[in-house]
Amino acid sequence: MTTTSGSKLKHAIIGVGAGVFNMHRPALELEAVKVVGVADINAEAGHQRANELGCAFYTDHRAMLSETKPDIAVILTPHPSHAAIAIDCLQAGAHVLVEKPMAVQAAEADAMVEAAATAGRLLAVNFQHRNRADVRTARKLIQQGALGQLQHVAMTAAWPRTARYFKVVPWRGTWVGEGGGVLKNQAPHQLDILCHLFDLPARVLAWTRTKLHDIEAEDTVQAMMEWPSGMLGSFHVSTAEVGCAERLEIVGTGGSLQFAKDGALTYERLKTDFRTFRAESDNPFGQPAKHAEAVELEAGSGDHVAIYQNLHEAILSGVPLTCDGVEGRKSLELANAMILSSYTGSEIGLPLDRQRYATLLEGLKAEGK
Ligand SMILES: NC(=O)c1ccc[n+]([C@@H]2O[C@H](COP(=O)([O-])OP(=O)(O)OC[C@H]3O[C@@H](n4cnc5c(N)ncnc54)[C@H](O)[C@@H]3O)[C@@H](O)[C@H]2O)c1
Repeated sequence: MTTTSGSKLKHAIIGVGAGVFNMHRPALELEAVKVVGVADINAEAGHQRANELGCAFYTDHRAMLSETKPDIAVILTPHPSHAAIAIDCLQAGAHVLVEKPMAVQAAEADAMVEAAATAGRLLAVNFQHRNRADVRTARKLIQQGALGQLQHVAMTAAWPRTARYFKVVPWRGTWVGEGGGVLKNQAPHQLDILCHLFDLPARVLAWTRTKLHDIEAEDTVQAMMEWPSGMLGSFHVSTAEVGCAERLEIVGTGGSLQFAKDGALTYERLKTDFRTFRAESDNPFGQPAKHAEAVELEAGSGDHVAIYQNLHEAILSGVPLTCDGVEGRKSLELANAMILSSYTGSEIGLPLDRQRYATLLEGLKAEGK
């Protein structure tokens, strides 16, 4: 896809020396993409990538924006810098694709969403798991009412990391460097899947713990959630465990859905909705017959290429973004609420009280623990 005049979309990349760049590389080879400039505060890493990509290098992203005037700015820097850089890019007239999480605090995400609206530019957040075939199919089944009234969701995820992971990139797991641990770095994908499928819960109660790693912030989280519909949820994620990479079970009165290991879905439909069966059955221990139904997966792939293609289409044809700023903010708000719940030992209602969270985070940064 190219512009109506057949020209390519000009892309500029900020934080081009990032480890995550390799996930972006295939998308930069798309027909629609021309990389006009890259920036990084690490001149050596940045120069190397600029040479590879055959474009200009800058140590200051603002100089790059004013000289290269990109259509799209892609932000790969650590998350505490996302908000300020994204706002610079939007004000310079670029559409923005920012890596997840879109910021550290929901209040920063508010400012980014506002800046995009003021500038009349798109703000896309890189939650590529939204495009996975299993996630897309589960969303469709839920929207079709295939599970009846939703009752319960259970999500667990293990993202095992070693001490070396935190040693080689020292900002990881620190309050100043990323504003959290697993909730800011790995869990955003699972939190985003929950928000994408069910929207934000109404309230959350969480324990964040540092079980194994020598880091300031949490490596393990256990949380309970309740949605406005009354659906209940549990959530467990850790970088200190070697469990199932991701397990999701959704139970409704009409059936249940599970993510299977190989990216497939298991869907069991109840012959009679349990609300009816419960009222009418003569058997005190009875349950409706279950039918395992084959699920045809939607097309989809959780890579960065699909995120770029969607952004290009959104710019050129106005299709909705896979994840815009308002959507991307949800998982961040939920992560903030979990940390606030754990540190205050209380249940947190959503929307999050931004000021209360900002005060907590300032304290954690100052203490460094
Ligand atoms: N979508 C995904 O699946 C996924 C996967 C990995 C990382 N990420 C996200 O990507 C981001 C980067 O993570 P990483 O582990 O690759 O980081 P990294 O530490 O490997 O790289 C960050 C880069 O940004 C540069 N940088 C820092 N501040 C800058 C600034 N102000 N201006 C220009 N350059 C600056 C650094 O010099 C470095 O080259 C994080 O937000 C992370 O959560 C997303």
